Amino acid sequence: MNILDHKVCVAPMMQYTDMHDRYLLRLISKKVFLYTEMIATGSLVYGRCFDQLEFNKEEHPIGVQLGGSDIKDLIECSKKCEDYGYNEINLNCGCPSDRVQKGRFGACLMLEANHVAECLSEMQNAVEIPVSIKCRLGIDHHESYEFLYDFVSKVKESGTKIFIIHARNGILKGLSPRQNRNIPPLKYDYVYKLKKDFPDLEIIINGGIKDLDESKNHLNKVDGVMIGRCAYDNPFMLKDVENKFYNENPIIESKKEILNKYLDYVEIKISEGHNLPKMLKHLFGLSRGDKNAKIFRLKIIEAMKENSIQPFRKELDDLLVY
Ligand SMILES: Cc1cc2nc3c(=O)[nH]c(=O)nc-3n(C[C@H](O)[C@H](O)[C@H](O)COP(=O)(O)O)c2cc1C
Repeated sequence: MNILDHKVCVAPMMQYTDMHDRYLLRLISKKVFLYTEMIATGSLVYGRCFDQLEFNKEEHPIGVQLGGSDIKDLIECSKKCEDYGYNEINLNCGCPSDRVQKGRFGACLMLEANHVAECLSEMQNAVEIPVSIKCRLGIDHHESYEFLYDFVSKVKESGTKIFIIHARNGILKGLSPRQNRNIPPLKYDYVYKLKKDFPDLEIIINGGIKDLDESKNHLNKVDGVMIGRCAYDNPFMLKDVENKFYNENPIIESKKEILNKYLDYVEIKISEGHNLPKMLKHLFGLSRGDKNAKIFRLKIIEAMKENSIQPFRKELDDLLVY
């Protein structure tokens, strides 16, 4: 089995980290580990929506995240994902949304550790690539470290080695998914303790990480960090990953170069029938921190409305500082 490098990962985010966003992120950092948005096994097995699995070869290394709990479906989807060329399959045990709970997947599975272990074990038996899990610290009133310890002990029996932990509880009733990303307090100390108690596991910490300096501190205590919203809102923050974490000094491309490479890609994808506004929205964050950030974003909105990019390319380039 390939050993994958999860030192810095970008979190799966529905409606955000689609194939185009991931292409953009990969232009900025070659080493960061990428994940797809969650894909429900039902939509693959029964909806035959395989276009959701499409990705660009440039995106490697990349993991696909599955949401489901039916073992037969998870096996079928895992094989399919391996055939598509993904480097890893991740099982979502962290999403608290009502829809996902009704389907018996996501965070509610944290109450079914033995079943999760069986799912992961069967998935792993079906494929050669690693299978990982992303979960919370616990759910609802199960807030103790012992709950998390017990969950991980049971799941580990499946042979799973890679655990991504969103360092807050999931509240299944009364909080929306968005509130569930902000209101339950972050408890990084649980995740650090988990690494101490299970030194043979690869523990990746997630939740509220703002920048690479903060990431560096976490990496003294765990194996990897996963950054979600901050990486989306300011993708250029990933430009120093190689330098800060790998002692490499790649030539860092300017925002203008990234913009132009991404727009070249967008033009190719338009000709293949992809939706222009969906691709352009990922550029909003590129001007983050620049003096012209607001005008840049307004220009992108104009291009989205016109459904056209060529006439806007030069202006967008001029608006970026470097
Ligand atoms: C818009 C949005 C969509 C998300 N979709 C997923 C998802 O599909 N699968 C998943 O495991 N987590 C999902 N998450 C949660 C993130 O992966 C991550 O755990 C969470 O945002 C905390 O990390 P952060 O504070 O760095 O953003 C989503 C988060 C956001 C903001």
